[in-house]
Amino acid sequence: MKKIDMEGVFKRNGKIFTENISGCKGIRVYNEKLITYRNKEFRSWNPYRSKLAAAILNGLKDINISSDSHILYLGAATGTTVSHVSDIVKNGMVYAVENSPFAVKKLLQMSKKRKNIIPMLSDANHPDRYCTIVPTVDIIYQDISQRNQSEIFINNVQRYLKKNGQGIIMVKARSVDVSLKSKQVYELIIKDLEKHGLNIVDMVEISRYEKNHAAIAISN
Ligand SMILES: C[S@@+](CC[C@H](N)C(=O)[O-])C[C@H]1O[C@@H](n2cnc3c(N)ncnc32)[C@H](O)[C@@H]1O
Repeated sequence: MKKIDMEGVFKRNGKIFTENISGCKGIRVYNEKLITYRNKEFRSWNPYRSKLAAAILNGLKDINISSDSHILYLGAATGTTVSHVSDIVKNGMVYAVENSPFAVKKLLQMSKKRKNIIPMLSDANHPDRYCTIVPTVDIIYQDISQRNQSEIFINNVQRYLKKNGQGIIMVKARSVDVSLKSKQVYELIIKDLEKHGLNIVDMVEISRYEKNHAAIAISN
């Protein structure tokens, strides 16, 4: 098991892993493989199930998630990626927003044993609705396939991201405009983010794992 250039993420035989958080030994979240190495348990992080894993494997630079980060996670779904982020930020917190009651039910179940996840049934279009729970955060991660995904991201960044924080948005090109090529959509989103004063740190396409998707990292 080798360390990579991102805290809390490990590599072995071309695959990436996170160390299963304490209290969850032997527990799988999405039937991922568990392996034990030097008395520690690691969970395989599947890039076909998690766009963040895909972006890491495709070399998205300077991801600053660390063991004490506080992260606002928009579009948590049932918690596949949230669970790996929770492994990484073992002394931090993941504020996980999801607007599907069905998905949140599963997210709540998964979060019971993980003390660093706060699941919320809420709409990311209305950041004020979770202002009593979410503080200013180090990182905002968004994976929401909506036409206005850029607007949702910018509103949340302006409301919750600390100065010199980091944001990562997973863009699904076909949700924005089916008449444009994916690359044109990524360019449109980048222009919109820059127009709102955000700096583009990096962008990688992840189509190998998830068609017509790219990850864009920003700082503010
Ligand atoms: C592609 S899935 C997320 C997958 C998840 N990030 C993962 O990697 O495990 C997108 C999720 O965003 C949620 N979503 C869509 N619009 C939303 C909104 N306005 N506010 C919060 N969640 C939303 C959907 O219900 C869906 O579960």
